[in-house]
Amino acid sequence: MARILIDGGRPLRGTVSIGGAKNSALPIMAATLLCDEPVTLQNVPHLNDIATMEKVLQALGARTSRTADGTMHVDCGAGVKEEAPYELVKTMRASFFVMGPLLGRLKKARVPLPGGCAIGARPVNIHLKGFEALGATVSIEGGCAVAVADKLVGARIVLDFPSVGATENLMMAATFAEGVTRIENAAQEPEIDDLAGFLNSMGARIEGAGSPTIRIEGVRKLHSATYPVIPDRIDGGTFMVLGAMCGGPITVQNVIPAHQQAVIAKLREMGAVIDVDAAARKVTVSCDGRLKPVELKTLPFPGFPTDMQAQFTAALCLANGTSVISETVFENRFMHVAELSRMGANLTIRERTVLINGVERLSGAPVAASDLRAGAALVLAGVMAEGRTEVSNVYHIDRGYEDLVGRVRSLGASIERVEDNGNGK
Ligand code: EPZ
Repeated sequence: MARILIDGGRPLRGTVSIGGAKNSALPIMAATLLCDEPVTLQNVPHLNDIATMEKVLQALGARTSRTADGTMHVDCGAGVKEEAPYELVKTMRASFFVMGPLLGRLKKARVPLPGGCAIGARPVNIHLKGFEALGATVSIEGGCAVAVADKLVGARIVLDFPSVGATENLMMAATFAEGVTRIENAAQEPEIDDLAGFLNSMGARIEGAGSPTIRIEGVRKLHSATYPVIPDRIDGGTFMVLGAMCGGPITVQNVIPAHQQAVIAKLREMGAVIDVDAAARKVTVSCDGRLKPVELKTLPFPGFPTDMQAQFTAALCLANGTSVISETVFENRFMHVAELSRMGANLTIRERTVLINGVERLSGAPVAASDLRAGAALVLAGVMAEGRTEVSNVYHIDRGYEDLVGRVRSLGASIERVEDNGNGK
């Protein structure tokens, strides 16, 4: 098991580059199942979750190949199977994104239900209700969601909650449905717009992605396409928070500022100086003195992103006053709080809110990552803390951050990754 060792307290400055968005590449990879011609994806990050999704596609019958520059070729022309393998789906809940395209292409799909995870139960009821609205018969058999339809017919689907995954799964399922589908109360995250962009580049007819109402006019077939994945706004946001915490300046390259508005606004409210160069797709963050305390509430896009909550919690541990963070999207996304407290932070959880009394300094400690973003937050805290921090369960971080250690080290941090030789040494 790998660990990350950090000797904190060093000034950081410099430039980092951001990779392709994990949460865009995953549904886009699933969407390739809809096309019986070869497609090429660009700017696909090298992450464990991406590798898992590639294995899922291969298990379903796709032929895939990758090059070091982020290009991925996928060919589902030889046909696809209707059942996704349990062994792979159980390791990554995003595998459930294959349900929509399999149902859309084959009119039947059998996908193991994704378990919950550390941050919540994460049910898929909104996905399944949407498939039924399109005319599928849905049942749960042997731990799998099973959907079958003679044909899929366009429908008006109103989501109970603007679920990112449900919006994506239903856009894909509706691509070949007869007639027009309208998804209302749809998620508006940039990744939704990116998936629609990819589907349309293959010949789908989708309008309104990125707004609360998405219109999908069914087509008969899709064709080859080459499509670049958008930059990862959460990877970029994580380094922007680091720039605010350590004073910087840190320049984050290859970002789309329009995807970062809530994060930029909140960092400015905390006293960070942020220079946005949209044309050059870069943002530079610096801060003189301690951060100011703020109130923060996570919401669906364009509200403040839940995937940035842990990183901001870490930053506000050092703010000059008391902050309040409310997590409204997931029911259990405060596992990083106990770990930050071990580093001397003063945090109190009350239901889905955490009260943060800022302290002057954090002290290094052994801490454990509990999920992807909590792990990143602990690295940020370790870089700021006095003394040695050791982050374990690093596999969580590997799911969504490409070379986090190398990029943080390039800014001047004393940070290294050590691989245990099996007996904990
Ligand atoms: C996506 O998860 C992201 N993952 C998550 O990123 C992100 O936190 C989340 O969207 C919210 O932005 C990927 O894109 C692979 P949801 P998803 O469906 O689609 C409830 C990361 O760190 N809900 O919008 O699973 C659900 O329980 C990950 O990269 C239902 O109740 O999120 C949750 O409380 C973590 N029923 C809320 O909606 C459903 O059928 C938001 O879930 C679906 C969701």
